[in-house]
Amino acid sequence: MLALFVVLCFASLAAAAPYGEIHLVANWSYPDYAFRSELEHTHYLSEKLYQTTFLAGVKASSDGTLYLSTPRWSSPKTPSALSRLIFANGEPRLDPYPSWEMNNQTIPILSDDDSHIHSVLGFEIDPFDRLWILDQGPWYAPHPMPSRPKLIIWDLVHNKSISTFVFGPEVASAENSFLNDIVVDATRNVAYISDSGLVSGDHDQLNGALIVFKLGTNGAASSARRVLARHFSTENNDTYTVEAADSRLPWMRTGADGIALSADRETLFWCPLSATSLYSIKTSLLSDMSTPEADLEAAVTLVEQRSYASDGLTVANNGLLYLTSLRDSSVMVRYNDGHTMPLVPSDPQRFQWPDTLGFDHQGNLLVVANRLNQYLCLTNNKTEGCTQMDYTQRNFFVWSVGLGGADSYMHTASKITQWPLWAIICIAAVSGGVLLFLGLLLGYCCARCRSKGPRTEIMQEGLLKASSQ
Ligand SMILES: *[C@@H]1O[C@H](CO)[C@@H](O)[C@H](O)[C@H]1NC(C)=O
Ligand SMILES: *[C@@H]1O[C@H](CO)[C@@H](O)[C@H](O)[C@H]1NC(C)=O
Ligand SMILES: *[C@@H]1O[C@H](CO)[C@@H](O)[C@H](O)[C@H]1NC(C)=O
Ligand SMILES: *[C@@H]1O[C@H](CO)[C@@H](O)[C@H](O)[C@H]1NC(C)=O
Ligand SMILES: *[C@@H]1O[C@H](CO)[C@@H](O)[C@H](O)[C@H]1NC(C)=O
Repeated sequence: MLALFVVLCFASLAAAAPYGEIHLVANWSYPDYAFRSELEHTHYLSEKLYQTTFLAGVKASSDGTLYLSTPRWSSPKTPSALSRLIFANGEPRLDPYPSWEMNNQTIPILSDDDSHIHSVLGFEIDPFDRLWILDQGPWYAPHPMPSRPKLIIWDLVHNKSISTFVFGPEVASAENSFLNDIVVDATRNVAYISDSGLVSGDHDQLNGALIVFKLGTNGAASSARRVLARHFSTENNDTYTVEAADSRLPWMRTGADGIALSADRETLFWCPLSATSLYSIKTSLLSDMSTPEADLEAAVTLVEQRSYASDGLTVANNGLLYLTSLRDSSVMVRYNDGHTMPLVPSDPQRFQWPDTLGFDHQGNLLVVANRLNQYLCLTNNKTEGCTQMDYTQRNFFVWSVGLGGADSYMHTASKITQWPLWAIICIAAVSGGVLLFLGLLLGYCCARCRSKGPRTEIMQEGLLKASSQ
């Protein structure tokens, strides 16, 4: 009994400690594919197409399958923008999802080609196994882009499209939008998207913004709205230089990037990448498509001015906020009182440019580390203050980090809806009744067994006494 108590004490201490056990899920020098032929594989290597495959995002479906995004930023010839992770002879491989065909990029890109997936950075998988694919559009094409950014909602269980919503130019500009990341309020069918913005035309300012998307259900049309456009909370900070491991990237200007929804779905957090500020807003205001823009701007709260910049952000259903730290090559955990500590200690070798965060639904946080700083130095041919990506070593990592059983921010809500109060009371009443019955039965049997002989004698004596009176 004492041993059990001690074990339980240690277990709860371990659950409370911020450092989680770190496991490698997969690593690569460059992401490699489960090609359908050796010819395709040879082409991928000889044409150096592997240098265009940049691993960015990771999310898991409820059966534990991992999905990975590889945004097409350098070439339309990158084999896919979205894939499943599979293992072939123990080697991690990308398997384009939903299919090779849907990931195929027809060249030249047609202006009305909304049936293919062009470039995916941020995406999400909700508790109903709906995959929310944020397609940036073919943004590497000469601007203005010939095709439009869109959101595809895909049913993973039945492997079929639920809805495709093409953003109009007033929501996401083909010219200067950069749709970065997405969080989903699955019970309200609302998604919040960060647009990092690009610089274009007469504007020397980024076109950063947030986008609110409402999925139409029961025949209603879906709708989307662009808010906080070119607001300071969605812009880069010109006085801040992005630092990552030993790189300094003064030319990097990226607005609203990391985005996270609180577990009660009441608060949205986000941060520009080239800045240290973390912002929040109440979703009651944000999700109401009729809230005036001025009211939204007035409701933006500066949560914290940090000492580092983040890419991925997320909240777990334990209520804690997790932030990647680019400067420190680490992942931080922020408690509600503002107290922040490392979940993953600084590790430039293994966690350089911690990018996206996800959940494996088995109590672990998923982290992609991808050396974006080195990749950008390579693709932009930068050398000063910059280390270029070296394909002779491991550059891309998918890690799982123990969270003491916590799951995604979305999973609190779905558990509550699956178990309404009446069901909990009902189950409690029925199991209470069953336990009481078993207890009484056990008590009665024990009493009978223990006192079978003497008690019957006493009873018989009593009866005899009674009858003789
Ligand atoms: C990469 O993964 C392999 C196993 O697939 C492992 O042996 C190796 O140590 C890993 N490298 C790094 C740098 O983590
Ligand atoms: C999933 O759907 C796509 C598009 O319809 C199809 O090409 C693909 O073969 C399907 N995958 C599976 C595993 O059925
Ligand atoms: C991709 O599209 C091209 C035409 O643009 C076609 O030649 C090629 O066969 C397609 N590949 C796949 C895998 O569907
Ligand atoms: C930009 O960064 C500076 C410090 O580098 C800070 O004082 C200022 O408040 C920041 N501006 C915004 C809008 O966050
Ligand atoms: C990269 O920069 C170096 C030196 O500045 C130059 O010699 C080289 O041609 C450049 N390469 C490309 C692809 O622009």
